[in-house]
Amino acid sequence: MRIHVLEDYQELSHKAASFVASQIILRPHSVLGLATGSTPRGLYSHLIQMEDLDFRGVQTFNLDEYLGLERDHPHSYYYYMQEHLFRHINISRAGIHIPPGQPDDLEQACREYDRAITAAGGIDLQILGIGHNGHIGFNEPASRLKTATHVVDLSPTTIEANSRFFSSPEEVPRRAISMGLGSIMRARKILLLASGGDKAEIVARTVGGEITTRVPASLLQLHQEVIIMVDKEAGSQLPRGQDGSE
Ligand code: F6R
Repeated sequence: MRIHVLEDYQELSHKAASFVASQIILRPHSVLGLATGSTPRGLYSHLIQMEDLDFRGVQTFNLDEYLGLERDHPHSYYYYMQEHLFRHINISRAGIHIPPGQPDDLEQACREYDRAITAAGGIDLQILGIGHNGHIGFNEPASRLKTATHVVDLSPTTIEANSRFFSSPEEVPRRAISMGLGSIMRARKILLLASGGDKAEIVARTVGGEITTRVPASLLQLHQEVIIMVDKEAGSQLPRGQDGSE
């Protein structure tokens, strides 16, 4: 794992955007795995500002989607991605993949999503945020984790954390569809972003704690090519020597 501790959220977003841009420049047909939530917003906004960056050959696969929300619901991840990235860049519609929030057949939708990832040649660069409980995508802490795309019952802590985007916790969907740990771990490179003091403890456990399905992000310790970018606050509990300060 390579760890970069940046001064603040702005710097973190800027550095992450440069990293993603280099990936696209070096490999114009890159397959990107994308996250939603508050953390990657700055990264997306910097990418949008890079007007010469060409997304025409890029394919994207989002990590997850709430179940039960229409695509155009303002809290769906489809809507989020349109608003924060896709409608501002020259990516082709055919290149965009987001798990469906209202599929007729859930099992089939999960299998089709995995088949589409495989058909694209797998993910070159997976962008991840991290939940306070260590979830990545919506792979929640559990005694066993799923490798393939699957349906998830969101944990009470995730519902609570995500209620900030809704008017009340009752409105947060209880279920989601999420890429599995297998697809994430097969990505050739992984870029994990975290910002803020409330992520400090889970970042430290991810980097240096026990590798356990109870902290899904800790499995990233087993991956060859993980880059972690955090701001000073999120990096504040990293042991000395592991904080790679810049
Ligand atoms: C979202 C996702 C989640 C978030 C995580 C952190 O697509 O996969 O794992 O990355 O919940 O969310 P924020 O960035 O809002 O703290």
